Amino acid sequence: MEHILITGASSGIGKVFAEEYASRGNNLILVARSREKLDALANTLSNTYGVDVRTFQQDLSFPDSAEKVFDFCKREQLVVRTLVNNAGFALDGAFDAQPLESHEKMITLHTLTLIKLTYLFLPEMKHRNQGEILNLSSITAFQGIPYNAVYAATKAFVLSFSESIREELKDSGIRILALCPGLTETDIFDKTGIDPHKTLMPVGPPEQVVKAAINALQKNKLYTVPGFANKILVQSGRLLPRSVMLKLAMVLNRRKKSKIKHSQPNDPLQTP
Ligand SMILES: NC(=O)c1ccc[n+]([C@@H]2O[C@H](COP(=O)([O-])OP(=O)(O)OC[C@H]3O[C@@H](n4cnc5c(N)ncnc54)[C@H](OP(=O)(O)O)[C@@H]3O)[C@@H](O)[C@H]2O)c1
Repeated sequence: MEHILITGASSGIGKVFAEEYASRGNNLILVARSREKLDALANTLSNTYGVDVRTFQQDLSFPDSAEKVFDFCKREQLVVRTLVNNAGFALDGAFDAQPLESHEKMITLHTLTLIKLTYLFLPEMKHRNQGEILNLSSITAFQGIPYNAVYAATKAFVLSFSESIREELKDSGIRILALCPGLTETDIFDKTGIDPHKTLMPVGPPEQVVKAAINALQKNKLYTVPGFANKILVQSGRLLPRSVMLKLAMVLNRRKKSKIKHSQPNDPLQTP
């Protein structure tokens, strides 16, 4: 039975992906740490749309977590047609004010787990000569972002990795898309204490992001930046010197060096 596997499906963009894909009649595998949220969503979607929805509780910030997801799918004999590598979190503040463990978890979740899931599910997609891999990057992938240093670096990694393997796989029937949203109204901000509306950046709904992504995947695009203002911002990075873009990031995010708190942030790594 063919399924779409979505990591980080318990809230935000991942949850909207689950709702959108289920409404189009797709079977789903939902992965995240919050078992109750996943099960509630699975019940709602299977009752509403009559699709098969499986859940798998897993903290994906451990190096061996991708194998556990893969083993679950093998055990249940689930064929993953589309892989949505969406799970992620943000940290806010100076690089050296964050616990090193938080950086490690972010790097593992955003990069290593994403790579491993791609690696593990790819052979079957190649064998079937079809498949889709949608990787959550960000507009932060296009430049350094002061006070979100590791986050921006991991998202640049995702964009670069996605572009490279897309070219490697161009004759395979497998589509690879890097999704690069700007600020999107989700729980990610509650968890970090950032108020996106206090920045000068546009803030969009997750539904817009998901529609843009599915549309871009259908058109077999390399990457997509949802929202006109975000597109302009990314394009301006091609024209302006990188040093200017760094200053612009400080202004748009209303960062004042003198006001940056160096206290420990809320710990978004706790299992909810
Ligand atoms: N919101 C934005 O402005 C924005 C912009 C650009 C890119 N993005 C990217 O979009 C993706 C989704 O973020 P979102 O905005 O939708 O945030 P969100 O509402 O906080 O959702 C994040 C999802 O990731 C899961 N997750 C977090 N840590 C996890 C872990 N260690 N193991 C397994 N699952 C984990 C969460 O589930 P549990 O807590 O239940 O584990 C949740 O389902 C992220 O990759 C983010 O970087 C977001």
